[in-house]
Amino acid sequence: MSSHPVFRDGLLDGQVGIVTGGATGIGLGISTTLAQLGMHVVLASRKPENLQSAVENIVAAGGKATAVAVDVRDQTRVQAMARQVHDELGRIDLLVNNAAGNFYKKSEELSENAWKSVIEIDLYGTFFCTQAVFPYMKAQGGGRVVSTSMTLHYRGWPLMAHATAAKAGVDALTRTLAVEWAEHGIRINAIAPGPIPTEGVRKAFTPPPGAPVPDFFSVDKAMDVFAKATIPLKRWGTPEDIGQMVAYLASPAGDWITGAIFVIDGGEWLAKSKTGM
Ligand code: COA
Repeated sequence: MSSHPVFRDGLLDGQVGIVTGGATGIGLGISTTLAQLGMHVVLASRKPENLQSAVENIVAAGGKATAVAVDVRDQTRVQAMARQVHDELGRIDLLVNNAAGNFYKKSEELSENAWKSVIEIDLYGTFFCTQAVFPYMKAQGGGRVVSTSMTLHYRGWPLMAHATAAKAGVDALTRTLAVEWAEHGIRINAIAPGPIPTEGVRKAFTPPPGAPVPDFFSVDKAMDVFAKATIPLKRWGTPEDIGQMVAYLASPAGDWITGAIFVIDGGEWLAKSKTGM
């Protein structure tokens, strides 16, 4: 696979990592970065069609990747996944808890099922997957877990009660397990990505069909103007920005880092009070 622009070739050779939600968006950026550095990545997510094409692309570029279909809310299935990965590949060096789900909804209108689905994916899923890899990491004398958090719960974030509550729980789990499992050589950290222009973000900037739009309007321009107004480093993030932090934590450079939560957002959340957005 081609050289990575930042890390040395083969940095993660021989390692095995599971990336939940690893076939799309930020998860795919993480998987691709890890594979570029030699790690065998196991993409784990609900939709087989996404898994298939992501694995094909990574393999076509010279990386090592396989897929497991799993819903992280299903503890039995998650345990079977960890067992399968260990049986087939012999070790589990890294787990990236990237799978997440959310939507904007007034808190007073959240049904039990809506609340539950987000809490179960974001918080239960993170715990189930982390617990499932524990025996393998313990037996091999160590391992790394990187969970995806967010910054929205650092302040009030209306319409996101479920996700902010779940991610506050992910932060707490990160700190607690870091202390509890340090004796087994397991490093537990989290990342809190800022705005990455996923399909959903692009959609939010795209005028609805039939809306009056001036000739000079462009979605890319509108997104660029927004980024410059709201992000101190004046650009949107990329999945690779996030992937590189995960690669750092998976590498020997992360050896003395545990219980840390890394905000990777171009300064966005710190500036929110100034921009009001
Ligand atoms: N707006 C409002 N309510 C929603 C919703 C939305 N966009 N998506 C799901 N819900 C509600 C459903 O109405 C349902 O509640 P109900 O039974 O009371 O009607 C409940 O949440 C579960 O919905 P379901 O369709 O069964 O979803 P799921 O459990 O299969 O998946 C999500 C839940 C969060 C993953 C789903 O909303 C989703 O696909 N979101 C977009 C993808 C996403 O979040 N990506 C990650 C971004 S970080």
